[in-house]
Amino acid sequence: GAPVEVDLTGMAPGEMRTVEWRGKPVWILRRSEDMVASLKKTDSQVADPNSERNPDELTPEYARNEYRSIKPDFLVAVGICTHLGCSPVTRFATGAQPSLPADWQGGFLCPCHGSTFDLAGRVYKNKPAPDNLEVPRHMYLSDSRLVIG
Ligand code: FES
Repeated sequence: GAPVEVDLTGMAPGEMRTVEWRGKPVWILRRSEDMVASLKKTDSQVADPNSERNPDELTPEYARNEYRSIKPDFLVAVGICTHLGCSPVTRFATGAQPSLPADWQGGFLCPCHGSTFDLAGRVYKNKPAPDNLEVPRHMYLSDSRLVIG
């Protein structure tokens, strides 16, 4: 599939967009400062904090960090659960959410079997999904131009 170019102009902190790449949904989340800070708290709660599992398939070298990204404020990830391929939904940390832990920092919940992922797409411990969400190959042409693929 051809690379997909995305214009990030005007994306507000906390805003998420989905684009299609190779028939897959790719999420682009502009993380707010609070969202970035939440990754420190989830570090000890996720199964593979440094993305060491299947790195060649799941996490390009430039994203093998706590943020799983090139820029701390932008997450780029494939929105397909690594368990059996369902589509996780966003569950940002607003209000009471009974299905989630009390100290939920926000992230993604897979409705099929309950895997949860933090705001870097890192899977929480003891969930059916074996891996973090895939970070596709990507690069920035400028501050506002992202290329996926
Ligand atoms: Fe997501 Fe099973 S497909 S938890």
